[in-house]
Amino acid sequence: GTLTRVEAESAAITQGAVESNHAGYSGTGFVNFDNVVGSGIEFPVDAASAGNVRLTLRYANGTSVARPMSVSVNGGPPVVRDFPGTTTWDGWTNAAVDVSVTAGANSVKLVATTADGGPNLDRISL
Ligand code: GCU
Ligand code: CA
Repeated sequence: GTLTRVEAESAAITQGAVESNHAGYSGTGFVNFDNVVGSGIEFPVDAASAGNVRLTLRYANGTSVARPMSVSVNGGPPVVRDFPGTTTWDGWTNAAVDVSVTAGANSVKLVATTADGGPNLDRISL
């Protein structure tokens, strides 16, 4: 759904920069993660009740090599997800990531696990 939408450029960014030099983003730009292990982003997810929610991550990866990131909720165990190549840096696509949340405020953190860093990230919605 689109009940909640977090623009990546307004979330808490670690080792990354807000940029706008590739077309097609929403809001005022996207996050270009530094190409290092550990670059990442943390954003709030408010849930009416505990359970699984599907996060839709809009990203671009203009290479042919997947850019995995670990996903963890409220500091819990990280699960690694691939973000496959999208051919061009303005080739935005959606990746679905299912996470288990508690009722109320949650914090979801994505962290790049390879020296390529993360893909460019436009927004997160659920
Ligand atoms: C290019 C591109 C960036 C991207 C980077 C990367 O420099 O312009 O938007 O983040 O490649 O490989 O991560
Ligand atoms: Ca980058």
